[in-house]
Amino acid sequence: MSVTGPTFDLVVAANRLPVDRVVDDLGTSTWRRSPGGLVTAMEPVMRGRVAAWVGWAGGPGPAPEPFREKGVYLHPVGLSPTEIQEYYEGFSNDTLWPIFHDVIVPATFHRNWWNTYRRVNDRFAQAVAQVAAPGATVWVHDYQLQLVPAMVRALRPDVRIGWFNHIPFPPVELFSQLPWRRALIEGLLGADFLGFQRTADAENFLRSCRRLLSMTTKADTVTFTTPGDDPSARRTVRASAVPISVDFKGLDELARTPEVITRAAEIRASLGNPKILLVGIDRLDYTKGIRHRLKAYGELLADKAIAPPDVTLMQVSTPSRERVDAYRHLREEIERTVGSINGEYSDIGSPAVHYFYQSYPHAEMAAMFLAADVMLVTPLRDGMNLVAKEYVACRHDLGGALVLSEFTGAWDELHQAFICNPHDVEGVKQTIMRAITAPQDERRRRMKALRKRVADHDVQRWATLFLESLASAPEKPHRPTRASDEEMRGAERANRSNLRTSDNASEQTGEQ
Ligand code: F6P
Repeated sequence: MSVTGPTFDLVVAANRLPVDRVVDDLGTSTWRRSPGGLVTAMEPVMRGRVAAWVGWAGGPGPAPEPFREKGVYLHPVGLSPTEIQEYYEGFSNDTLWPIFHDVIVPATFHRNWWNTYRRVNDRFAQAVAQVAAPGATVWVHDYQLQLVPAMVRALRPDVRIGWFNHIPFPPVELFSQLPWRRALIEGLLGADFLGFQRTADAENFLRSCRRLLSMTTKADTVTFTTPGDDPSARRTVRASAVPISVDFKGLDELARTPEVITRAAEIRASLGNPKILLVGIDRLDYTKGIRHRLKAYGELLADKAIAPPDVTLMQVSTPSRERVDAYRHLREEIERTVGSINGEYSDIGSPAVHYFYQSYPHAEMAAMFLAADVMLVTPLRDGMNLVAKEYVACRHDLGGALVLSEFTGAWDELHQAFICNPHDVEGVKQTIMRAITAPQDERRRRMKALRKRVADHDVQRWATLFLESLASAPEKPHRPTRASDEEMRGAERANRSNLRTSDNASEQTGEQ
């Protein structure tokens, strides 16, 4: 293909650019940091790299001209209003998202959504092919772009292609509900290396290759022949876990600044200086278990185990995918529940729940983390959950306690957290009380261990490991990964014993 314009040795493709174009009522456009964990993770990784980033600018209409931001060449992909509806809100977030998150809400299947998804993926692939230098490394992100690896390979067989899934990969029994399951797997297998959050996700993918496409898998690789190709032209693709992380150093430094420390004290003071401040910060998504968390909290208030003003909850819900029905309904339900808890259990001037439906800048989030005595991270299913790791990175004072759902990728690593099963209301209540009442030295010991884990496995290490794995695929990279495998096994052992503690809570009371 003919290549015009600048080309790059590293090309990132993600649904969103790191910045969104916002057009005000007067038609003036400005750029604002995009929402979501993907951008948060990739921002520090891209700093100082000479690279291009292909993505959607967040609004309807033709693609704005490419431009540079903090040294990175941003190449926007345009989406029409119908494409936003059918590719982004529809197929990505109303078909794939539920299937990839245990069908917490039912998935919707529409053939026209699929056709639009294919068309938009093709547009992304064309853009990648245009900006990739000969032999470039192409790093595709997430479930919105599962067809891009094979499409790029067809256009540019010279480049090396990796894909990383930020969300879980579902068990074959759920994945096989997708009428387009075969095309999705074939799309992914255009890559040389496929990275997942957990080993279980990589195994789910490999099982789907075996069961649905009769491919041969061995350890963490799958070998296949492309349809219509000479059987001797076999390709082997490696699929394995590369858990994402946060910019530990950056967050640690931010949380140590006098501004953030002062702001944390101000937040506590504005909330009435409670003895215990519980905090939840999530994108408003049904995967995050906000309803379950509120139920457990409401019951603790009803049981008189806790009460404002001594204990209060601050719940921040960041607006997300507001035009998708399931998200609108969830917002209504959460706000109704918050209203009813506050109606029943608040005192004048001391609400039981402080609820915010807003997005906040980095520094404000760091101050919230620093203010939180107990951080509640209770998703029903989550690829990783970076909030859990951000909280830990901000607690340089070794204060605070993390209550963490076992259904997050973070649970595989953060075994010193207070673990809970969000479906087990009694267990969540007991875990919250354990976190509140744990002696200070136990909390400090746990936080120290959590911080060590996140500091040693930060986002830079994640990016390096991903890129090394991509460079050496289908072989493993040469770095010694055995130690980290052993660490993971150690974490899993510790988690099993944690789980027993949380199960006992419910078994003893017999309640759910
Ligand atoms: O990884 C999940 C994800 O879809 C990311 O791609 C994104 O950063 C985040 O959730 C927020 O989603 P959206 O881009 O739909 O606002």
